[in-house]
Amino acid sequence: MIKKCLFPAAGYGTRFLPATKAMPKEMLPVVNKPLIQYGVEEALDAGLNEISIVTGRGKRALEDHFDISYELENQIKGTDKEKYLVGIRRLLDQCSFSYTRQTEMKGLGHAILTGRPLIGDEPFAVVLADDLCVNLEGDGVLTQMVKLYNQYRCTIIAIQEVDPQETNKYGVIAGDLIGDDLYRVRNMVEKPAPEDAPSNLAIIGRYILTPDIFDLIKQTEPGKGGEIQITDALMKQAQNGCVIAYKFKGKRFDCGGAEGYIEATNFCFENFYKTGKAY
Ligand code: UTP
Repeated sequence: MIKKCLFPAAGYGTRFLPATKAMPKEMLPVVNKPLIQYGVEEALDAGLNEISIVTGRGKRALEDHFDISYELENQIKGTDKEKYLVGIRRLLDQCSFSYTRQTEMKGLGHAILTGRPLIGDEPFAVVLADDLCVNLEGDGVLTQMVKLYNQYRCTIIAIQEVDPQETNKYGVIAGDLIGDDLYRVRNMVEKPAPEDAPSNLAIIGRYILTPDIFDLIKQTEPGKGGEIQITDALMKQAQNGCVIAYKFKGKRFDCGGAEGYIEATNFCFENFYKTGKAY
């Protein structure tokens, strides 16, 4: 059973400067909750209650968020404001949180490798909190992926069809269709120009990885942008064994940039906040 979920959250969030100069991008609020809280809720809903977070300099607010705030909680105790903290208290009660720091931001692959001591030798999920995923019609995206892992027992990556002109923002796969919305990955390219892209199936920020990925990342040389890319390690995994790409059910908002962030805000306001499901 998968219990662990890793949140690489050490990146600089340059697309959101100056807001992210002194505040982690993962703490940007979407209506009333920080991005990372949506991610942890999705993980817990999927049965993953051992939360590991890779942080970096200037990211201490993340640790404080997943802790008790005695003064504040004492102040609002017995008032109708207590309801605002019900959701976060549930996470504190039901999850454990552990942290490690990435001291040099050498890319997502490197951030995941930095989390190795927290994960050990077992399969685990990875959530990039700036990709906010919701499914109003049923299981959350990680829950869908855990079910697939239990069936296939190999690495599962979430993909989405994107505008073919935008492939240069994503890792893009080519694969053989093996079932409904399921592809066995054959090829993978990091941020290809539209003319070089093998498809318009883009990898988004949800993964379930088998632990052999750590050694594969270790063997990976810096790739595009001088960063150690997870895509390169996944490509090796796909060649050696099996990587399955899954076109998930639900919506994904790229909250690392202004446009997706505003869309997510409007969506969450309409569907969660106004309907009283926001805490
Ligand atoms: P992004 O490239 O989206 O995040 O990385 P970023 O670098 O913070 O943002 P921009 O592009 O400068 O605006 C995807 C995820 O990987 C993490 C980020 O925190 C984000 O969750 N990451 C990236 C790390 O933890 N360490 C890194 O070295 C790079």
